[in-house]
Amino acid sequence: MRCILGLLGLAATIRALDQVPLKQEERPNIIVVLTDDQDLHMDSINYMPLLKKHIIDHGTFYKHHYCSTAICCPSRVTLWTGRNAHNTNVTDVFPPYGGYPKFVAQGFNENYLPVWLQDSGYNTYYTGKLFNAHTVDNWNSPHPAGWTSSDFLLDPHTYQYLNATFQRNENPPVSYQGQYATDILAEKAYGLLDEGVYSKKPFFLTVAPVAPHSNVDSNTFRDPNGEGDPLDEIHMTAPIPAERHRHLFPGVKVPRTANFNPDKPSGASWIKHLAKLTDEVLTYNDNFYRARLQALQAVDELVDGIVTRLSNYGILENTYILYTTDNGYHISQHRLNPGKECGFEEDINIPLIIRGPGVPVGEADIVTAHTDLAPTILKLAGGDWKRDDLDGSPIPLDQNSIRREKVTRQEHVNVEFWGRGIPEGVYRFSLDDGRVVSYGSNNTYKALRVIGQNYNLYYSVWCTNEHELYDLATDPGQLTNIHPSVAPSSSTQPLVLGFPVSKVLPRLDALLMVTKSCKGYTCTHPWSVIHPNGDVRSLRDALDEKFDAFYLGEVASRVQFEKCELGYIIESEGPQEAVAFDGL
Ligand SMILES: *[C@@H]1O[C@H](CO)[C@@H](O)[C@H](O)[C@H]1NC(C)=O
Ligand SMILES: *[C@@H]1O[C@H](CO)[C@@H](O)[C@H](O)[C@H]1NC(C)=O
Ligand SMILES: *[C@@H]1O[C@H](CO)[C@@H](O)[C@H](O)[C@H]1NC(C)=O
Repeated sequence: MRCILGLLGLAATIRALDQVPLKQEERPNIIVVLTDDQDLHMDSINYMPLLKKHIIDHGTFYKHHYCSTAICCPSRVTLWTGRNAHNTNVTDVFPPYGGYPKFVAQGFNENYLPVWLQDSGYNTYYTGKLFNAHTVDNWNSPHPAGWTSSDFLLDPHTYQYLNATFQRNENPPVSYQGQYATDILAEKAYGLLDEGVYSKKPFFLTVAPVAPHSNVDSNTFRDPNGEGDPLDEIHMTAPIPAERHRHLFPGVKVPRTANFNPDKPSGASWIKHLAKLTDEVLTYNDNFYRARLQALQAVDELVDGIVTRLSNYGILENTYILYTTDNGYHISQHRLNPGKECGFEEDINIPLIIRGPGVPVGEADIVTAHTDLAPTILKLAGGDWKRDDLDGSPIPLDQNSIRREKVTRQEHVNVEFWGRGIPEGVYRFSLDDGRVVSYGSNNTYKALRVIGQNYNLYYSVWCTNEHELYDLATDPGQLTNIHPSVAPSSSTQPLVLGFPVSKVLPRLDALLMVTKSCKGYTCTHPWSVIHPNGDVRSLRDALDEKFDAFYLGEVASRVQFEKCELGYIIESEGPQEAVAFDGL
């Protein structure tokens, strides 16, 4: 294997020396490596030495990067359309509320990033998982638009590490039974990279491995359009590492943070009723965790393979590489079995590392979100990133802009979810009343992360009308809900920014009212809806006492739900319009 790779490398070098003048454009190439369910909070990144060597040590690690919907398909649709899920209405992994068929039905197959990039003169390439419910049956009805060349993983085999099915360009699906999916994907990625290099145009390439997502037995995959609930039988187990990585990291366990299987229940809705995990489950979960780290090793090698090829071709310095994932992951925090779908930091605060021309080496602590990636990439490609259907704004990529945006950039992230919390692995969710359930019901919520100078908050309103407020400055594990509806009443209210919670909350309510249904500009500048004259740009500004009467009185329309739904049913989601301040 090593020998074959060596020869390929040599061949690439010879071709590169031969043909470097092919590159006729100054516009950069853009490569996205998009993993699946990779955490930031359980240290997975620290187990990827080649990622560190090639990307982290040469680029910026955006430490406050967030997904807005913590599940695969909605998050990927947000990435490639630049819209929040409430503006795509692709809110689930399967129809009727999500999956590839819903993406197509919403009209996005003609109107998303790869199409716009082609319009800007880029060649576009993709290999790996695009969306859920993109299957061996519907792959060509229609074929995903916008790709110069593609090689997609298809359901129901997408998550089978040893039985993947890929589908290249217009060709029928091909099964790779018995081969290791990430290694096949790597070869495909290198092939597409070669196509890009020789195409005489700048290129965009996405490589989307399935690791470290759990392995899913295809025989338990129900036709999402068929009878019954696809979730009832689906069998998800620990990811399968490549044979050569199975011995790695003996004894390594999930980091024992404060919120690891806590003594007291936390969260809201179904999460609040979880029983403490038993030792048997914790051991299983630690093994699951170790399998994730092992499965990521083939991704680490893939990063090495890509960067080495770019370097051999002499185009590494004219290429941006973005490393990220669709959503985060939790294992045993808050008594949760492996999974995502929650609003906790583990699920929404995810890796984003960018290297490329002008990108400084270090960490950035500005707030960025997945809605920002489409505008970032469009801007790099010279496309129309100011189009008004984009809910984010370009991420600053040079030292000066990063420093400037530390002061001027948005401080909030919109977080939203519809549906259920799904346990992965062999254990279901055990509740404190002794029941065992196969998913968490009523997992529909609207939330906000707000990170500013001296404040760091998470605020959520659930479809059950429960509320959560965490001050992450003092409670990074999100264990103590300081919302007055649950916090024990006492004369000493917790302070946020030096103010009592009762003064801060109406401001958060008003902000959430805007962000949960924002569009375009109002998503990055939500305070402009409440304060149209522009004098409020942050939570701190809004806390000025001259607005006290307004916030304590006028804001009658607080976020609330009529009932819990599995999708974006607007009639069940209460008031929609924020009230604007018109005083003074
Ligand atoms: C592997 O994939 C093939 C072809 O897609 C399928 O027919 C077969 O059932 C799969 N095997 C397993 C064990 O899932
Ligand atoms: C879901 O929330 C509704 C309130 O909207 C409540 O009546 C119901 O009992 C909850 N269901 C479960 C399973 O928790
Ligand atoms: C979202 O899609 C679902 C399923 O098609 C539909 O019932 C719902 O009304 C849509 N929501 C909005 C806000 O368009």
